[in-house]
Amino acid sequence: MEVQRQQPYDPESNRVAARRAADRLTTGQILFAIYLIIANLLEAAGLVFVLRLFFVNPGPLRDPSPTVRVASLSLSLPSTPSLPSSIISGNWSVALSVENHLWRHQFGWDHAQLVLFYHGEFVAGMFLQRFGVAPRGNATLETGTAAFSRDVREWAARAMAMDSEDGGVMELELRLLNHDDDRSQNRSGWDSFDCHGLKVGFSSQNQSQVGSLLSGSTHKCT
Ligand SMILES: *[C@@H]1O[C@H](CO)[C@@H](O)[C@H](O)[C@H]1NC(C)=O
Ligand SMILES: *[C@@H]1O[C@H](CO)[C@@H](O)[C@H](O)[C@H]1NC(C)=O
Ligand SMILES: *[C@@H]1O[C@H](CO)[C@@H](O)[C@H](O)[C@H]1NC(C)=O
Ligand SMILES: *[C@@H]1O[C@H](CO)[C@@H](O)[C@H](O)[C@H]1NC(C)=O
Repeated sequence: MEVQRQQPYDPESNRVAARRAADRLTTGQILFAIYLIIANLLEAAGLVFVLRLFFVNPGPLRDPSPTVRVASLSLSLPSTPSLPSSIISGNWSVALSVENHLWRHQFGWDHAQLVLFYHGEFVAGMFLQRFGVAPRGNATLETGTAAFSRDVREWAARAMAMDSEDGGVMELELRLLNHDDDRSQNRSGWDSFDCHGLKVGFSSQNQSQVGSLLSGSTHKCT
């Protein structure tokens, strides 16, 4: 300060210095304003995200689909197929393990059906009991053994008879379909699960060809 006061008065250089100072201030202010805008945008986005997560529209983190796996699939067919040969009959049973990822809501199926396909050919179907899984819980849905009898197309009957011979492997697809009474309460918005590539290995047991799910087979449903 002392040094400046001793210098001779120079209005031109003072004006330049003042303009430079003003420029610096303006740049600083602009940067600060940009920072504020970005910070506020991020904050607002974060707040909206958190609000949506917990209150408004359940986002993907809050409402993940349950995980459905085929725990077991058993099929038993008569060793000597009935005539006419296009009728496929026997018994089947399925166990599904269902994992509910929701934190606060029970997951449930009110009127679910399980349908079994052999390479696109409908083989068997059954209705399931009402089923619910507690929040963040696991449960196993067991169908019990049900009989089935279907008139399938000839190629399917022939192929199934071959696949179910001793040591044979049959590839099946399971589909679960559900209709809810009140979707908003039990929050199950997932109407269908597909379990592809289920490989069932067969062996002879008491006049029947009994098959069960091979451990290497795909178990998770989508
Ligand atoms: C299916 O189950 C019924 C009743 O338990 C039994 O009589 C029949 O032999 C079974 N069929 C096969 C192919 O296992
Ligand atoms: C939800 O599902 C469970 C199990 O199926 C059932 O007992 C309960 O009544 C259902 N809740 C509503 C509100 O439908
Ligand atoms: C549910 O089952 C899965 C797979 O079997 C397991 O990883 C998970 O820990 C289980 N969760 C609970 C809550 O039991
Ligand atoms: C097979 O038959 C025998 C007697 O005929 C019976 O004791 C056994 O439990 C049967 N096994 C199966 C798996 O049905």
